[in-house]
Amino acid sequence: MAGSHQMEKIIDENIDFASTIVVHDDAFPDEKAPAYADHRIDRLLIPAKIIRKRTRVLAKQICSDYRQSGILHAVVLLKGAFVFAADLGREIYKCGGPELQYDFLKPVTYGTAIKSGGESQRKVRIDYALEDLNSDHVLVIEDIVDQAFTLSTVQRYLQEEKQVASVKFCVLLEKMLSHPTPEVQQLREGLTLDYVGFRIPDRWVAGFGIDAGEDFRHLPDIVTVNEEYYRK
Ligand code: IMP
Ligand code: MG
Repeated sequence: MAGSHQMEKIIDENIDFASTIVVHDDAFPDEKAPAYADHRIDRLLIPAKIIRKRTRVLAKQICSDYRQSGILHAVVLLKGAFVFAADLGREIYKCGGPELQYDFLKPVTYGTAIKSGGESQRKVRIDYALEDLNSDHVLVIEDIVDQAFTLSTVQRYLQEEKQVASVKFCVLLEKMLSHPTPEVQQLREGLTLDYVGFRIPDRWVAGFGIDAGEDFRHLPDIVTVNEEYYRK
């Protein structure tokens, strides 16, 4: 187990916070193993302080890209993005704008289930329809892009039904898929992710707003979960 001093060193010497951080399974020594001695959790994947540092950089990029745009409409996808969206908004404020207005959409993709192998499509239902978005610049804030069913549905909804002026996507985690079906691969390739925090392995994760069967949204860190347990 690495001490916190050693962890600081690993962080400062090995991570380039300026671009999307690629996280492998054992990227960070499990400094908090005792706290996560829980049969539902596999291991620590991304410690809170790494998420914080990367969020700050994403916020700075957004501040710079939207400097001239007036109000930016942040559309947060519930439930998983609520923690990330709160932190990101405050960092955007700290770096001097743009002015944010928050709205919330609830696309239901997996419910309390987790994905299984070989999926080619999934119906995504959008709850909480938005009202007056027309002609606004929209930044969609999402926790994870996995098979891209959710974001491609949201993109279509905003562009075709709401006809917003522009849509960009800010996602905390992008999964590196192991065995995507051709349909999923095509969906993923058709989606432009403008701001991505981390690229992660194709594992079910939780924490920092993200759930496994509604567990663990309040964890400060992001962990991988025991998938066998959640498949039951
Ligand atoms: P997609 O439609 O397959 O891209 O899945 C995206 C949505 O599924 C995200 O908004 C998450 O809510 C959820 N999701 C995908 N992967 C995970 C995971 O590993 N843990 C928890 N939720 C996930
Ligand atoms: Mg979601």
